[in-house]
Amino acid sequence: MSGRASESGFQIKPVYGPGDLPEGLPERLGAPGSYPFARGVYPTMYTSRPWTMRQYAGFGTAAESNARYRQLLAAGTMGLSVAFDLPTQMGYDSDEAIASGEVGKVGVAIDSIEDMRTLFDGIPLDKVSTSMTINAPGSVLLLLYQLVAEENGVAGDQLSGTIQNDILKEYIARGTYIFPPKPSLRLVADTFAYCHAEIPRWNTISISGYHMAEAGASPTQEIAFTLANGVEYVRAAIAAGLDVDDFAPRLSFFFVARTTLLEEVAKFRAARRIWARLMREEFGATNPKSWMLRFHTQTAGVQLTAQQPEVNLVRVAVQGLGAVLGGTQSLHTNSFDEAIALPTEKAARLALRTQQVLAYETDLTATVDPFAGSYVMEAMTAEIETAAVALMARVADHGSSVGAIEAGFQKREIESSAYRISQEIDSGERVVVGVNRFTVETEEPYEPLRVDPAIEAQQCARLARLRAGRDNAAVAAALVALRTAAEGTDNVLRPMKDALRARATVGEVCHALRQVWGLYQPADSF
Ligand code: 3HC
Repeated sequence: MSGRASESGFQIKPVYGPGDLPEGLPERLGAPGSYPFARGVYPTMYTSRPWTMRQYAGFGTAAESNARYRQLLAAGTMGLSVAFDLPTQMGYDSDEAIASGEVGKVGVAIDSIEDMRTLFDGIPLDKVSTSMTINAPGSVLLLLYQLVAEENGVAGDQLSGTIQNDILKEYIARGTYIFPPKPSLRLVADTFAYCHAEIPRWNTISISGYHMAEAGASPTQEIAFTLANGVEYVRAAIAAGLDVDDFAPRLSFFFVARTTLLEEVAKFRAARRIWARLMREEFGATNPKSWMLRFHTQTAGVQLTAQQPEVNLVRVAVQGLGAVLGGTQSLHTNSFDEAIALPTEKAARLALRTQQVLAYETDLTATVDPFAGSYVMEAMTAEIETAAVALMARVADHGSSVGAIEAGFQKREIESSAYRISQEIDSGERVVVGVNRFTVETEEPYEPLRVDPAIEAQQCARLARLRAGRDNAAVAAALVALRTAAEGTDNVLRPMKDALRARATVGEVCHALRQVWGLYQPADSF
């Protein structure tokens, strides 16, 4: 019986039956909320609380982004998700030459504690959970968040949220790295230890497959490379002397949801099973929370089209449905205009409404893991699991995830998958509605949101005032203490926090670390 190939390259059979169910299915499934968590990480899943609706947003100045967050919260979003501009993500201040033209463009510009205060002005940090998409300087932005919370009387143990902090996928797919792998992994381990002591409910990392998927990774590659990176972080933290059960419960993950819904649901279920087994069997974790793969999902931006953009509303609804059927903890549904520019306010609201329809109008939240036992779903879950485990073994053949990164392995694999997809689109074999089929002669004009170019000058003026108004000798001394910690083995987050409190900027803190740790130079030519 022949069929259509899945995104990972498996044949999907036209008909599945009892003979396709994997052996030992009850053990492979477990009960919801129990090892190996194929059916979801919580016993009751959405029947007691829907997933967190968490829309990624941020642009321009801290004040503008603050206004967008307040709108989103008023519209019913349940958690915040901060997008930073590129200079902030790379650890540069807005007034540095390298930042020119990028300030406030793809996210909000944050230079110091003063910007952070404005960003969260009037937002109850003890009630809202906040995700921050920040990697190389993840610890810096987390400390700024903690400092602002403390100013508002909110202690570390009341804070909940996530920093992306996933440097390994930056080397593979996203590009906002600063330091080489070794000190970067040390910084990650320092952050795990700091959070365990000071901000215990914080999710210290969001180990991400999303960006690899956007670069062309298949679902199998996405989970295999992501989980392999997860293994690398666990090893680094254990090597730094941490107990696995002290940090593993706060590891989190981030995946894409594509329009190929069946394979995506299978992917999420397979990923949970692989991670649970790794944590219990390989790393000897004994706390069940250490075994749980909790994840955020974003709908696939790369599958949205600039042509007939309203069709994206439909794509996003299908993708969001896949994430929910796959048991996501948190979800961002893309705005229909994202393939064109930053989302307008109306498009951002419609994206949130899509989740609200899924949560409150459908019957999806009435029962847990509705696909369990389905012939096709269980067969696909087992198929992806086997293939992902095999691909993880190929990563391990390079010694470790970092070894494979340095050999360019993951990038090459992802690129060949991306090439196959683009060939299929060009040949028409892969249908993209409105692009290579069902096109229209003339597209309706669309008015996108544009970021005001004056923001850069405003941000530079703000920095000049900050530098003129602070105790620069205290800042310099704090930066020396930070460098000393970076040269030795003390946790760097404590002196970093002192420096930020004294109003050192994000760029100054990152420069201090650059002086000690150097810059990452990719070995390959991509
Ligand atoms: N039964 C019992 N308890 C439940 C429950 C249930 N059914 N459902 C939820 N809960 C509890 C949880 O245990 C948790 O309590 P805790 O804090 O004490 O542990 C609480 O309710 C909150 O639930 P979750 O932890 O499930 O949900 P969160 O939303 O708080 O966390 C996460 C989800 C995935 C663990 C977290 O890491 C997260 O929020 N991630 C978001 C990441 C993100 O937004 N990234 C954006 C990336 S954009 C990007 O990269 C940009 C670009 O380049 C694309």
